[in-house]
Amino acid sequence: MSSEYSAAASVTADPLLAWRDEFPLLSQTNYLISNSLGAMPRRVYDNLRQYADTWATRGVRAWGEGWWDMNVRIGDKIGAIIGAPPGTVSMHPNISIAQSILLSCFDYDGPRNKVVIESGIFPSVYYVLRGMLPRHIELHMVESQDGGITVPVERIIEAIDERTLLVPISHVLFRSAYILDVQAIIEKAHAVGATVILDGYHAAGIIPVDVTALNVDFYLGGVLKWMCGGPGGVFLYARPDYLKTVRPKITGWMAHKRPFAFEVDEIDLREDAFRFLNGTPTIPALYANEPGIDIIAQVGVDNIRRKSMHQTALLIALAEQAGFKINSPRDPAQRGGTVTLEPDPTCSYEISRELIARNILVDYRPQAGIRLSPHFYNSDEELYQAVDAIKEILADGSWQHHAAGRAFVT
Ligand SMILES: Cc1ncc(COP(=O)(O)O)c(C=O)c1O
Repeated sequence: MSSEYSAAASVTADPLLAWRDEFPLLSQTNYLISNSLGAMPRRVYDNLRQYADTWATRGVRAWGEGWWDMNVRIGDKIGAIIGAPPGTVSMHPNISIAQSILLSCFDYDGPRNKVVIESGIFPSVYYVLRGMLPRHIELHMVESQDGGITVPVERIIEAIDERTLLVPISHVLFRSAYILDVQAIIEKAHAVGATVILDGYHAAGIIPVDVTALNVDFYLGGVLKWMCGGPGGVFLYARPDYLKTVRPKITGWMAHKRPFAFEVDEIDLREDAFRFLNGTPTIPALYANEPGIDIIAQVGVDNIRRKSMHQTALLIALAEQAGFKINSPRDPAQRGGTVTLEPDPTCSYEISRELIARNILVDYRPQAGIRLSPHFYNSDEELYQAVDAIKEILADGSWQHHAAGRAFVT
């Protein structure tokens, strides 16, 4: 198979393909892994050079000339995509840290002693919950009834009661791309006085999200995947009323109203997104994050979603014809941007390695299968190529080249 990939369909038929030139990697690979790491926009080179030039020529003056506010300036750009008002979104290095900051806002000595989660939770969120919640807090996990494709939302709603303090759950499951009916969950939580923290890492940038319409308490997500923003860019939205009330214990001088007074006293917290910040931010990551966020805003999430629904449906149809097991929801309204396939349960991991060796980039998740994640820059042609390659790998046995060991590196 050629290592030269092109969008065979014309830009007239699919105007979003015009964006391919902005992403150098797309001419060299069949890139179907945007659920893991979105392709790098060409403009990241310019932004990182600008970062180096600023540091080199402006030195410490850079803080006053943009670096100090950069975190929330980038947060506002994400806010515009997810329906958050300006000044409500802060940036953090990863979800583990952002989730820890939120958990540090709560008091666990009160009568509410239950936290409701679901079994599709991303492991680092679970580890942080286990690590930070006192032992007397019941961690109530709602299990999937279908091997992890979905989680029963009605069971989550049932589990949320007057004892519930927090509901930290996924918006879209990372293994299957199942979209939870979070509106119903938020309504129940609020009716009984519980707080919802949504992990929208597999939602923002690929399905429309409106945090204001949802009336969600807190919303986390990142730019690494569907926003093509690279590592080190996770966002934390807090509903405006929380900007005046909650007090993160994981904090720092960036959150103080008078950081340059260097007061060693009770922290006087700001009443905007800075309230959730702590120490010096990861400025180079923010420079790299920005071009992808700008592109997603320009392309428009509604356009992305329309194409994504078409392409995930096409993948499912092709996989069905080939007789592969499909571990993602069939209903497009319940399915995010990924299609998870189990072409042969005994060797799906090995097939994924052979696809990568053939320059078709995908990943594999245990208890799920091979994840194929087209984004707005992929052509339909690339989906046909991927499914044809899986059929070929099964037929010619080339997956056996990878049978020696399971490294799980992506
Ligand atoms: C749902 C979800 N949450 C969180 C993360 C990443 O967490 P962190 O930023 O701590 O690496 C991922 C990464 O794949 C994810 O899929």
